[in-house]
Amino acid sequence: MASLDRAPVRSRLRLRRMRRLAAVRRWTAGPTVDVERLMWPIFVRPGAGAPEPVAALPGVERYSVGRVDRLARTIQSEGLRSVLVFGVPRRKDDLGSGAVAPNGLVPQAIRAIKRAAPDLVVATDVCLCAYTRYGHCGVVRGREVDNDRTVEQLARMAVAHARAGADFVAPSAMMDHQVGAIRDALDRAGHTSTGILAYAAKFASAFYGPFREAADSAPAWGDRRGYQLPPDHLRAALEEMAEDAAEGADVLMVKPGLPYLDVLARARERFDRPLAAYQVSGEYAMLKAAARAGALDERAAVDESIVALHRAGADLIVSYFAREIAQRRGR
Ligand code: PBG
Repeated sequence: MASLDRAPVRSRLRLRRMRRLAAVRRWTAGPTVDVERLMWPIFVRPGAGAPEPVAALPGVERYSVGRVDRLARTIQSEGLRSVLVFGVPRRKDDLGSGAVAPNGLVPQAIRAIKRAAPDLVVATDVCLCAYTRYGHCGVVRGREVDNDRTVEQLARMAVAHARAGADFVAPSAMMDHQVGAIRDALDRAGHTSTGILAYAAKFASAFYGPFREAADSAPAWGDRRGYQLPPDHLRAALEEMAEDAAEGADVLMVKPGLPYLDVLARARERFDRPLAAYQVSGEYAMLKAAARAGALDERAAVDESIVALHRAGADLIVSYFAREIAQRRGR
């Protein structure tokens, strides 16, 4: 074994000196991630019954619209600051008509949440996949999703959400020009203060599996690769983000989270616009499953994954763990 003395270059520095004492480690600590930066997804279904568990996502439930007011009050008192609302409608059709109804499921949920917890920031998913018979993110013609017809529906859906009081709409269908069309429609309807949280770089990911059970939105045939990004296309992702920024997106989101930290980091260098990351259902399910199997310490692993998303560049993080984090940090 070569002794240190005989090493060709010997640094005088010992980096571990700065790590030895907890208090000294804090001198150079990065920012801790506040609950204020977390957004919690909630699934809302029709009716007034008790919450239904989602088998693929332990701890995640579908709430009935009749009880979402209670939930809103509770989570606000637990310290959560923002939610992302997904509708899980009973009826589906070819055009996703339920998505654009002014008093549909999600508009009702928004009104109830805003009445019960006026300080909660409410964002809503804007996509047709849970509302169309065949589970695609848009209106299908033949075996293809018709981009421009879909964009018209998404714009109507966004206006219905804004009218009900949504603070942000979050288009996730990956249609071309969806952000610009939604911005125009919102402005024309007088909703100039409603923001757009754009799923800008959304990849065609295997990690959405459990979500599709929660939202009942799995495609009946084919897959989403005709509109979502190929996982190996970094430059295309940055191009999508630039396009959404140009169309007026207020926040640019990357999704999924951990498998795409490089995309976030590159976007952080390239764009000054606020960035979000979505820690998706499959990421949540993996951590839960590993913790349940006793393979890792859940809290530590969750905190580490959230810090990683923030460190890579996300200002805002959408996570199914948001509520648990709020609960355990207290107020
Ligand atoms: C709707 C939508 C999806 C997710 C968010 N919005 C599913 C999909 O594109 O298939 C995934 C969220 C998650 O996995 O947690 N298009």
